[in-house]
Amino acid sequence: MELPRKHINSFFPGFGSSLMLQLAGLATASHVVRGNDTDQQALLHFKSKITGDQLRIMDSWNSSIHFCQWRGVTCGRGREHQRVTKLELQYLKLSGSLSPYVGNLSFLTELNLTGNSFYSQIPQEIGRLRRLEVLRLTNNSISGEIPSNLSACSKLTFVNMRGNQLRGEIPASLGFLSNLKLMSFSNNSLRGSIPPSLGNLSSLQELTLSINQLTGILPEALGRLTNLSYFTVGSNGISGILPISMFNLSNVQVFDITGNMIQGTLSSDLPITMPNVEFFSIGGNQISGTIPISISNATNLNVLQFAENRLSGSVPSLEKLDKLFRLSLYQNHLGHGRDGDLNFLCTLVNNTKLGTLSITENNFGGMLPKCISNFSSTLSHLSMDRNKILGRTPDGIGNLINLEALGGGITKSTIRFDSL
Ligand SMILES: *[C@@H]1O[C@H](CO)[C@@H](O)[C@H](O)[C@H]1NC(C)=O
Ligand SMILES: *[C@@H]1O[C@H](CO)[C@@H](O)[C@H](O)[C@H]1NC(C)=O
Ligand SMILES: *[C@@H]1O[C@H](CO)[C@@H](O)[C@H](O)[C@H]1NC(C)=O
Ligand SMILES: *[C@@H]1O[C@H](CO)[C@@H](O)[C@H](O)[C@H]1NC(C)=O
Ligand SMILES: *[C@@H]1O[C@H](CO)[C@@H](O)[C@H](O)[C@H]1NC(C)=O
Ligand SMILES: *[C@@H]1O[C@H](CO)[C@@H](O)[C@H](O)[C@H]1NC(C)=O
Ligand SMILES: *[C@@H]1O[C@H](CO)[C@@H](O)[C@H](O)[C@H]1NC(C)=O
Ligand SMILES: *[C@@H]1O[C@H](CO)[C@@H](O)[C@H](O)[C@H]1NC(C)=O
Ligand SMILES: *[C@@H]1O[C@H](CO)[C@@H](O)[C@H](O)[C@H]1NC(C)=O
Ligand SMILES: *[C@@H]1O[C@H](CO)[C@@H](O)[C@H](O)[C@H]1NC(C)=O
Ligand SMILES: *[C@@H]1O[C@H](CO)[C@@H](O)[C@H](O)[C@H]1NC(C)=O
Ligand SMILES: *[C@@H]1O[C@H](CO)[C@@H](O)[C@H](O)[C@H]1NC(C)=O
Repeated sequence: MELPRKHINSFFPGFGSSLMLQLAGLATASHVVRGNDTDQQALLHFKSKITGDQLRIMDSWNSSIHFCQWRGVTCGRGREHQRVTKLELQYLKLSGSLSPYVGNLSFLTELNLTGNSFYSQIPQEIGRLRRLEVLRLTNNSISGEIPSNLSACSKLTFVNMRGNQLRGEIPASLGFLSNLKLMSFSNNSLRGSIPPSLGNLSSLQELTLSINQLTGILPEALGRLTNLSYFTVGSNGISGILPISMFNLSNVQVFDITGNMIQGTLSSDLPITMPNVEFFSIGGNQISGTIPISISNATNLNVLQFAENRLSGSVPSLEKLDKLFRLSLYQNHLGHGRDGDLNFLCTLVNNTKLGTLSITENNFGGMLPKCISNFSSTLSHLSMDRNKILGRTPDGIGNLINLEALGGGITKSTIRFDSL
């Protein structure tokens, strides 16, 4: 709808005529600058920022062929005829910076530069790519901050920037990317806290933020991400209390908060509702209380890690966890220093996958149960030293042919196997 002339004048007093001139100029320009020419210019600017190309990939980007035939370029059909829809240059040993002109590729749906050596920052102009669905910049040397304008790319479903040198904070505005299924910023140098707005990304299936310098707390809102199947924030400096809502991530397959400073008190009756979980690790934090019995219902578990926390009390039956490969409980205060503490070990005798079991540095007491000689022959790492376990290594332990170095110092009160 056009505003009456007097309104233009009242909003922009004295600028009426210059505004008209600009609009006239734009109208003329749109006859001259066609979208396909803009795309060609953008690609040429992209090429001009490539400083290293040992495989001579960019040689094909020359005027003897149409840019739609250039290596890595895909153009659309119909209305998108001669418009770049994909730029895929993964694993080609390219180095250089990212030209801001890339923001002019207005029909781009996919940008894949995985596994190159792009450096410098991602231009804010990326936010002009309103049709962008897939952005993969994994394993480059990109620095600077995550551009906040990325939040304008509302069609984005995949954003992978893992393995770069990104700094600064995760922009809270990324919580607007409601179609996002995957967000990975792991292995960068990000600081600050995880924005609670990410709890609004209801389509999210994968959120990986591990190996950064993130601090602050785990936002309670993340527990709302019911479609999340992959959640890793390991190796950061996250503190605060582990929100109970996280145990409601009913589709989660990988849950990894290892190596932070997260606190909280678990209780044996805490409901962990993660029926599909395969990897569960809260190791290397400051979590106290007892191991929830409900974990024994997570029958798909391969890896279960509670090590290096402040947990105490009994370990529940692990009888139903017949896919368990790694059980890591070392450095806690588990057990009561008496008989019965190790009963949970016997709940693992029918498990045929067990490879690693460590209960070192706890408060386990009582006799070492005979059942351990019936453990799966797949068991290759067993460590139990620094407990209050009595007795001798059961004779049958020799059946465990794959066990590496049973380790020295077997005394009457301490059974010391190899440490992990
Ligand atoms: C852009 O499209 C116009 C009209 O189809 C055509 O004349 C021109 O050659 C095209 N330019 C490029 C670079 O493809
Ligand atoms: C231009 O690209 C084509 C197609 O890859 C290639 O055959 C040709 O050698 C290139 N020309 C130059 C001058 O590099
Ligand atoms: C494309 O992008 C650049 C840099 O962001 C800008 O300067 C230029 O005017 C844009 N437009 C066209 C038509 O190339
Ligand atoms: C883009 O890169 C990823 C690696 O991040 C690769 O697995 C994928 O096949 C690439 N996508 C396409 C369409 O080539
Ligand atoms: C970033 O987004 C803001 C808000 O949409 C916009 O004003 C600005 O021009 C964008 N910056 C670039 C460089 O595109
Ligand atoms: C990125 O690099 C890491 C470490 O070298 C490697 O394990 C991973 O497979 C790479 N990812 C991709 C998508 O190439
Ligand atoms: C992290 O990225 C660096 C390069 O920046 C790479 O050497 C290293 O292997 C990556 N680590 C992981 C765990 O992917
Ligand atoms: C999440 O989205 C709702 C609306 O959908 C909004 O009111 C709220 O502020 C958002 N929360 C955050 C933390 O951004
Ligand atoms: C969650 O996943 C289910 C099953 O894949 C799907 O039907 C549903 O649309 C997803 N929800 C959102 C918000 O993406
Ligand atoms: C967990 O989910 C149940 C059922 O959806 C809900 O009633 C409960 O409030 C949730 N608990 C937390 C801590 O979010
Ligand atoms: C384990 O699952 C069964 C069957 O769904 C349920 O009845 C039981 O309450 C669960 N136990 C725990 C401790 O969550
Ligand atoms: C192991 O299997 C045997 C034979 O099926 C069964 O009697 C026993 O109860 C099982 N023990 C455990 C701890 O699952």
